[in-house]
Amino acid sequence: MAFQQTILITGGAGFIGSHLVRLMVNSHPDYHIVNLDKLTYAGNLENLKDIEGRPNYTFVKGDITNEAQMQQLFAAFQFDGVIHLAAESHVDRSISNPMSFIETNIVGTVVLLNAARYHWKDTTGKRFYHISTDEVYGSLGDTGFFTEETAYDPRSPYSASKASSDHLVRAYYHTYGLPVALSNCSNNYGPYQFPEKLIPLMINNIRHNKPLPVYGDGLYTRDWLWVEDHAAAIDLIYHKGRVGETYNIGGNNEWKNIDLVHQLCDIMDGLLGRQAGVSRSLISFVKDRPGHDRRYAIDASKIRRELGWEPSIRAAEGLRRTAEWYLENTEWLERVTSGAYQQYYEHQYGEG
Ligand code: NAD
Ligand code: TYD
Repeated sequence: MAFQQTILITGGAGFIGSHLVRLMVNSHPDYHIVNLDKLTYAGNLENLKDIEGRPNYTFVKGDITNEAQMQQLFAAFQFDGVIHLAAESHVDRSISNPMSFIETNIVGTVVLLNAARYHWKDTTGKRFYHISTDEVYGSLGDTGFFTEETAYDPRSPYSASKASSDHLVRAYYHTYGLPVALSNCSNNYGPYQFPEKLIPLMINNIRHNKPLPVYGDGLYTRDWLWVEDHAAAIDLIYHKGRVGETYNIGGNNEWKNIDLVHQLCDIMDGLLGRQAGVSRSLISFVKDRPGHDRRYAIDASKIRRELGWEPSIRAAEGLRRTAEWYLENTEWLERVTSGAYQQYYEHQYGEG
């Protein structure tokens, strides 16, 4: 079959990437979706079992920092577009090991930009779309929102590496005319998220009656977005977003960490048939994350106004769906938390 477009999605076996790959394979049968992923601890082909045999889907195991491999990949597939998600994504890991964030998030992005630049002699209809985070904007006080004009002020090695890659993507637009687009999104949650991030970590610990480690005073605030709403926004921006532009994506759904953990505890008590309050008693305030950003909040009016995007569900509903998914997929959870996860957990939280 002759496809209308061939699109490279990097990091498609990760949390957000797997939702995006599934969405695009299902909703664009006339596109060939090529998923390139290194399958680090965070990448898992089990996340894509339901689409693995589809005629418009190809998985390639590879590393975005490998220049020769990326050049070969671009030569072999003649991509029309790139949606770049591959990254090291966890702030706590970036504090313990910044270098892998520099390599993948900065160097890997430049390797892909160079491959696109080299292979796209004619850029008509081409698009290099870089997926980023609101963490590049730094930390807010009690009020205000990040807009697309907010000055960058990254404060963790993770956010600094993402900020650097954002700047490089924009530099390739201004310097070489590469047709780019960017989006900066708030915290995602939902099925298939690796249980190092707040929500699945808490769900997993509640299941096992383990302490729930809340950093610092627990009054840090994040804006939470259902992962499928992010995937839908990415699909929309890929097709309709203006070249050279940045779009902020957010759920308008702010929670203080402690309130979110309380809500999760109550949902889990209900689902596990526990007495009310049992899971809350597991909460343990622990040493704060160094350089912990106090508050993130997104002004998503540009994507609403220009592209008509809206989040489909709010967190109260999304958290319940998420908790249900993890309880229905305990084998997935057991598999990803065996082996190397144990060492990570011990290093980050002590014996727990
Ligand atoms: P994730 O850690 O779940 O997945 C990252 C994927 O990238 C994994 O499948 C991993 O195997 C792959 N990968 C890592 N290094 C690679 C390399 N060198 N070559 C090829 N593949 C490699 O991350 P996620 O939460 O799905 O985030 C995806 C993207 O979205 C990232 O760029 C992240 O910065 C961004 N983002 C995430 C959030 C969030 O809340 N999770 C919010 C905004 C933006
Ligand atoms: P996280 O899911 O790591 O996302 P990010 O740091 O990218 O926002 O953390 C979300 C919030 O939850 C953040 O304020 C840190 C806090 N947190 C805890 O309190 N305990 C934990 O064990 C984790 C992983 C996070």
